[in-house]
Amino acid sequence: MTDLLSVRGLDVRYGKTLAAESVAFGFPAGSVFALLGANGAGKSSILKAIAGLVEAQGEVVFDGRDVSRLSARERVGLGIVYVPEGREIVTDLTVEENLALGGYFLDSRTLAARRSQMLDLFPEIAQRAKSPAWMLSGGEQQMLAIGRALMSSPRLLLLDEPSLGLAPLLIRRVFERLMRIKEESGLSILLVEQSFRMTLRVADAVCFVRNGQILGTRKASDLDTSTSLAEVLEAYLGGGAPAAVPA
Ligand SMILES: Nc1ncnc2c1ncn2[C@@H]1O[C@H](COP(=O)(O)OP(=O)(O)O)[C@@H](O)[C@H]1O
Ligand SMILES: [Mg+2]
Repeated sequence: MTDLLSVRGLDVRYGKTLAAESVAFGFPAGSVFALLGANGAGKSSILKAIAGLVEAQGEVVFDGRDVSRLSARERVGLGIVYVPEGREIVTDLTVEENLALGGYFLDSRTLAARRSQMLDLFPEIAQRAKSPAWMLSGGEQQMLAIGRALMSSPRLLLLDEPSLGLAPLLIRRVFERLMRIKEESGLSILLVEQSFRMTLRVADAVCFVRNGQILGTRKASDLDTSTSLAEVLEAYLGGGAPAAVPA
């Protein structure tokens, strides 16, 4: 079977900074694929390049089609939706209005149906549907950001550090919902994380990113034993500063 997403020779540059270099990986439809790496490793740059939000060299093939020359908007149209790190919901708008933004191109009936699906999925925010989004907690804002992205029924969700700044219990809740959606709709997820253990729990495969480069891809099930985990941590940290120890 061909991969749903396949990336080859991807370079992302900001002036003289090479944030991603010759990045290559791929994964089949219906999977959760994770990029793990420390702060500054280049994870967000890789996601944004796939979404078409930063300029990049190289090949991004989605569902058999080279999308690397398409605009961000065109990629959204094909079902590639990016959820930014730090959430970026519109805090002055209500929860409902934020959801509507994610489905602005839907007819009103479909919009209403999707919105109520999202509120079913995230009952925490359903209670606040008419409240401005700034009233939500960090975890609820993350749920809203994901709910907004799901309004367009994406095929591939690019999820940038959903656990950033969240308590472990909330992270678990967010991931539980995502896994439910994945089971129900066959959604594929490309997840970027620094949090190691949560990622292993949800991902089918994991690849490690350091200094803009992919260190290698492993099946999550191969990382279950403590020996291989230690091996990977060694490769992952590779003499890096203790501050880079993944949670
Ligand atoms: N807009 C930007 N302009 C200049 N440099 C950037 C920009 N965004 C990221 N970088 C640099 O690119 C590198 C990778 O950053 P990023 O992709 O955000 O890493 P991560 O998401 O893994 O923390 C870092 O050195 C960062 O400082
Ligand atoms: Mg980042």
